[in-house]
Amino acid sequence: MQQYDVVVIGAGAAGLMCAASAGYRGRSVLVLDHANKAGKKILMSGGGRCNFTNLNTTPDHFVSANPHFCKSALHRYSPWHFVEMVERHGVGHVEKAPGQLFCDTSSKAILQVLLTECEWAGAEVRLKTSVTHINNRPVGEGADSGASSQALGDDGFVLRAEGESIRCDKLVIASGGLSIPTLGAGPFAYRVAEQFGLRVLPTRAGLVPFTLQPADKEWLAALSGVSAEVRAEAGGRAFAEPMLITHRGLSGPAMLQVSSFWSPGEAVTVDWLPALADPLAALREARKAQPAAGVEKWLRGFFSQRLAAALAEHFGWSGPLQHYSNEALAEIASVLKGWRFKPSGTEGYRTAEVTLGGIDTDAVSSKTFEVKSVPGLYFIGEALDVTGELGGFNFQWAWASGWCAGQAV
Ligand code: FDA
Repeated sequence: MQQYDVVVIGAGAAGLMCAASAGYRGRSVLVLDHANKAGKKILMSGGGRCNFTNLNTTPDHFVSANPHFCKSALHRYSPWHFVEMVERHGVGHVEKAPGQLFCDTSSKAILQVLLTECEWAGAEVRLKTSVTHINNRPVGEGADSGASSQALGDDGFVLRAEGESIRCDKLVIASGGLSIPTLGAGPFAYRVAEQFGLRVLPTRAGLVPFTLQPADKEWLAALSGVSAEVRAEAGGRAFAEPMLITHRGLSGPAMLQVSSFWSPGEAVTVDWLPALADPLAALREARKAQPAAGVEKWLRGFFSQRLAAALAEHFGWSGPLQHYSNEALAEIASVLKGWRFKPSGTEGYRTAEVTLGGIDTDAVSSKTFEVKSVPGLYFIGEALDVTGELGGFNFQWAWASGWCAGQAV
């Protein structure tokens, strides 16, 4: 039987970080992943440039049933720790938006940093390997039924993977959430949690585009590819970011951000003119200055011609401004500042960047990530009920939780 101090399941962001962190402490480490490549999401991330951290990381950029859980790890492993590592490997980066750091070349560079760190730390990464059984007793004592997994002690764990048995003292589950199954995502971490009697909080897709009801889809689908700077609000949270109209619905950072706070059946409110504090005053001014001009022309001062025309047509704003009463102008201003739409849903895990919910953090130490009731078992990364906003926060969580667990195993 093969034997390691630590087995990490999942060669993604959190798992690779944990493996290097543990390896440098002299632990023998094996990382197992069922995919044919490590870190597929890292490669896909940030439009191929990986938004690998956010310098403004604070706990209030994370969603969790326990908002305090992420504090310790984020404090102990800060964005600057990761930046220092990236720079040590000679990887250049750019701050595309305030705090959001991206590679200046390709996300491959970030994956290479992690794989090199694993190599230097002596951690072995084994791909195309599915783990079918986890048990704390040595195979051969009839303890591989799953039901016996509750009988735990200091004996460590025995895994069955591709017909082989692997024994380890510490087992770290870093297999992520459900988003993008084609990149290897699946419910493995939740099944392991359930096997050991832990609670898994309901999951749903986060940072995901909205789909539209037929009436909204009808006028918006024709604008596919058009974007606008908006302020979107749902579930009590608002984000001023670009919105992108697609042939399926509404996307872009503004929509992805609010999707994590939106509940099915709720409306999303869009302020089409976040930079204009008083559109009514502006409309009245325009009516005075150019009475014969139409609303559409006025809208062209803020939007592309296509979008201005579609807004005017959809809301029935035709005719010259001089024909509009103060009340009618107030109505236009109110629609532009607070357009409400009820999504028909989201695109789901197929395109979601993250999974909200997951393993209940109450069961896990926020310092070591060890399961309180199961010595030697650890959960890190997206599998836990901790989800960051858009902008590099999710990777920072993966690095921080991975590093902290690596220091503890
Ligand atoms: P992650 O998903 O990275 O890794 C899990 C690993 O476990 C995978 O390698 C998987 O194959 C493996 N695995 C799963 N089931 C298994 C099983 N049964 N057996 C063995 N192995 C198994 N975040 C950010 O901060 N900045 C960004 O730019 C982006 N961009 C982005 C783009 C896209 C398209 C997506 C989908 C996501 C992002 N994210 C992001 C989110 C970010 O990718 C995500 O939060 C982290 O990758 C989570 O890290 P984990 O290590 O927890 O899971």
